[in-house]
Amino acid sequence: MSKAPIVLAVDTPELATAIEWVKATHDYVSVYKLGLEFFLTFGSDGVKAIRDVTDADIFLDLKLHDIPHTVSGAAKAVSHLAPRFLTVHASGGPAMIKAAVEASPKTHVTGVTILTSLSEEDVTQIGFRQNALDSAVSLAKIAVAAGAGAIVCSPLEIAAIRAAVGPTPIIITPGVRPADSAAADDQARTMTPKAAISTGANLVVIGRPITQSWSAGAAAMRDRSAHIASDLI
Ligand code: C5P
Repeated sequence: MSKAPIVLAVDTPELATAIEWVKATHDYVSVYKLGLEFFLTFGSDGVKAIRDVTDADIFLDLKLHDIPHTVSGAAKAVSHLAPRFLTVHASGGPAMIKAAVEASPKTHVTGVTILTSLSEEDVTQIGFRQNALDSAVSLAKIAVAAGAGAIVCSPLEIAAIRAAVGPTPIIITPGVRPADSAAADDQARTMTPKAAISTGANLVVIGRPITQSWSAGAAAMRDRSAHIASDLI
């Protein structure tokens, strides 16, 4: 079986565990997402340790947001790791996004739109004039116009963003839950991975629905990733 369009969220504070997760799943997982906790704890050496056990792509989820000069420096600082995806907050604006794009030519600079943890009330309070959906669409358009190759959005925004940015940008969505998942965890408004892909996403971010199977061992985790992948290939 070939790899599925799954980004596995490697959310663990232990490097040895992260490496075991990758070994157990890399026949089925296309991309590994390493976030702030991972990167601030293990740094470039941690990313290299993951690279040593898989040729899968790396999604460096650093959600950069600063003045263009600083973001450019940060993007250059990680460019030797050649992540396939590097996130920036699209609300940092076109100049900041463009600075990241110019600093990391081999990477898809990935615009994060509106965090799904924000309520409509939060979105208004922060100062957005539109609701979360329309703000996410505007931010996606700004990001793509500034050179971003990928967008992160909630499953509920995929269709509107795909219609707004056209077929080329890679749309990545967290907040998905397989139909047989025991719990939604803290994900409020979910879609199944298959529904997200058929709505227009290119990649789905999945964490706990796969990683929780680790408590039953590596073989169980491998089976779980194969099962979820089989629905997407
Ligand atoms: O365990 P779970 O499948 O919920 O993991 C989803 C991953 O996607 C986590 O790393 C989480 O931080 C991330 N994420 C999310 N919702 C967003 C943005 C990122 O769940 N809006």
